[in-house]
Amino acid sequence: MAKIKHSVYTSHVPAIGAAIDLGKDQEPYWKKVFDGYEFSKQWEKDNKPDVIILVYNDHANNFGLNLIPTFALGTGEHFPTSDEGWGKRPVPDVVGHPELASHIAHSVIQDGFDLTLCNEMEVDHGLTVPLSLMFGQPEEWPCPVIPLHVNVVQYPVPSGKRCYELGRAIRRAVDSFDGDLNVQIWGTGGMSHQLQGPRAGLINAEWDNKFLDRLIEEPAELAEVSHIEYVREAGSEGIELVMWLIARGAMDADVDLIHRFYHVPASNTAVGHLILENKD
Ligand code: DHB
Ligand code: FE
Repeated sequence: MAKIKHSVYTSHVPAIGAAIDLGKDQEPYWKKVFDGYEFSKQWEKDNKPDVIILVYNDHANNFGLNLIPTFALGTGEHFPTSDEGWGKRPVPDVVGHPELASHIAHSVIQDGFDLTLCNEMEVDHGLTVPLSLMFGQPEEWPCPVIPLHVNVVQYPVPSGKRCYELGRAIRRAVDSFDGDLNVQIWGTGGMSHQLQGPRAGLINAEWDNKFLDRLIEEPAELAEVSHIEYVREAGSEGIELVMWLIARGAMDADVDLIHRFYHVPASNTAVGHLILENKD
């Protein structure tokens, strides 16, 4: 049977991708960020997934104001990376897993979540930077990836509670897939940051660390936090953190902490990172 044993959570700052691509990762500013992922890269080698469900947000690269799906699942075989304005990142394209993705679509839609399905889409830094952080710079990504895009860019955004419940539904879907697969689910984006307006540059380390504590220990309660609190406490782009609740919802209530890292700053963003394991 397919099984979710692990979840990974990480920020997705585009400048991290540029630092890797331009060979700046050993510069003192960036080394402090990448040091937090040394453990994780080795851990991924030791716990290689067969497929990753990667929850991320597009930043007006594939979707725009013409099309705003709240939740969009990548059911295709192949997802090219976006050119975000300064050329494509020199990273491999993403290979999908249509069989598991279409099973998740059937299960989750019948379970009450009316997903948009994408047989074709491009994926931006929201998806490729987490892959680079966890896998470095391979010729090919080590396994297929099912992208799950969440609209956290254009209001109205989904609530934390809806995201958490979607995660629960994804867990039921994976548990009912007839195939022997070790599935990881990743929640990406965040942590606190605001990129524009009078509060540009906002970072709230105390709130971020409380979020990490609660995500591990009391995710159902954390899911009740309103979108206004994310914006007020973690900045306008801090709302990306609702995506972590999808991954957490797909895990057991009780989990073991494998790795935790927090660092400020990377570009305009607080970087947070967790690896969680189901207990059984
Ligand atoms: C930055 C962070 C993001 O999450 C993003 O999507 C774009 C930019 C930043 O910190 O610069
Ligand atoms: Fe972002």
